[in-house]
Amino acid sequence: MNLTRRSLMAGASALTLMPKFGFASGNVEVLEARSGKAQLVSAEYPDTEIWGYDGKAPGPEIRVPQAARIQRKLLNSLNEPTTIHWHGIRIDNAMDGVPGVTQEAVQPNGEFSYDFTVPDAGTYWYHSHFNTTEQISRGLYGALIVEEPNAPEVDHDITVIVDDWRLDQNAQIDPDFKQVRDWTHGGRLGNFLKATLTPALNEVKQNQRLRLRFICVATDRVMRLALVGMAGKIVALDGMPVDTPTPVEMLTLGPAQRADVIVDITGATGEKAMIGFVGREQTIVLASLDITGQASLAPRPEIMPLPANPIQQLGTIEGAQITALNMEGGAMGGLQSGIYKGKRMTTEELVQNGQIWTFNGVAGMPESPLAEISLGETLRIPIINDTSFAHAMHLHGMHFQEIFADGSFGPLRDTILIERQETREIAFTASNPGDWVFHCHMISHQAAGMMTWVRVTA
Ligand code: C2O
Ligand code: CU
Repeated sequence: MNLTRRSLMAGASALTLMPKFGFASGNVEVLEARSGKAQLVSAEYPDTEIWGYDGKAPGPEIRVPQAARIQRKLLNSLNEPTTIHWHGIRIDNAMDGVPGVTQEAVQPNGEFSYDFTVPDAGTYWYHSHFNTTEQISRGLYGALIVEEPNAPEVDHDITVIVDDWRLDQNAQIDPDFKQVRDWTHGGRLGNFLKATLTPALNEVKQNQRLRLRFICVATDRVMRLALVGMAGKIVALDGMPVDTPTPVEMLTLGPAQRADVIVDITGATGEKAMIGFVGREQTIVLASLDITGQASLAPRPEIMPLPANPIQQLGTIEGAQITALNMEGGAMGGLQSGIYKGKRMTTEELVQNGQIWTFNGVAGMPESPLAEISLGETLRIPIINDTSFAHAMHLHGMHFQEIFADGSFGPLRDTILIERQETREIAFTASNPGDWVFHCHMISHQAAGMMTWVRVTA
């Protein structure tokens, strides 16, 4: 194995001498899942032991032109299995990275070759999909940026990854990933919020235009973000351009959600432009940029919609199949029993099995799909959140749209945040064959039961 590793490393360094895109076949870039060290907090604290792609958290940003082919060989140098899920990409089912559904988990020292094209421009991400609460909490994620051929003109195009770490006094990751109190409540919430800007940015000028690509990679925390000293519009959600860009001051991102905003720096020289996390008790500054002058006297032209992606929006929902999803469980949920691995269990028995949430009375992956539809058919899923917590439902492989009470449709999304005791309905027309998981992206909730799947037949 060592020998293989060494020759792969040599291959990887040879690659850096070649142009970034379009190198000849045979040289597949490697993403190595391994442990590493990161200065998460500050120089006064020890480095944090993390797990990351190529030993970094976030892992390397993958940035490609629209319609590009991405090939990455995942090399597992962890002491446990892993996989990579390419979140939000309309991908071939076999490349979706869900262990036990689309592939076998990659064992320690094993590898798996991911190979797919990215049909849609936008802001996506990749992350582990095995023992996911722990593996994402330890840092196994990165940005996947797909560039429009005719992207809007900006002075800086910055990826902003926002994470929520649970650290001890020595800045080390709290290794208890299976606290019942976390499962039954809002999940594993951290105590150290961090925004990573790629490329790094410290200074801006008044009237400069920025594209900020926000990605919430927190396992369980909903991020409410405030933008200060800048003004602009949301141009994309979960990778997909919105039809009409909407003004943004506050941004709410559930776990896994993304938003692209285009903003102009409005603050004056000597002031700061900031990204803040708005908590219940306090606002925390996640990024602070010095405004060091004026880029131009006049403000920038109007912010236009991004070019559309080659994806169909919902046409009609008439005649669509309707399958409801009932969410139950958690603390203050009054769950009496649920089915787990085919057996009816009391709440106590469920907790003993690490389960506490149910979809339609079943905890964990059910044997049969929530719904089965064929290509071109439309599925409506009313989601009834009969629990005391918010949930962020994510569908793999396809984007969906919300159906509002007045019959209109929301923007294309791959993850929807549903507040406690709320009912929301989504719908999509099946366009991608395969078995696609549909789960809560508050990953502690997923691990504790909130997982199902839909089957799309060709
Ligand atoms: Cu981003 Cu199934 O997850
Ligand atoms: Cu949840």
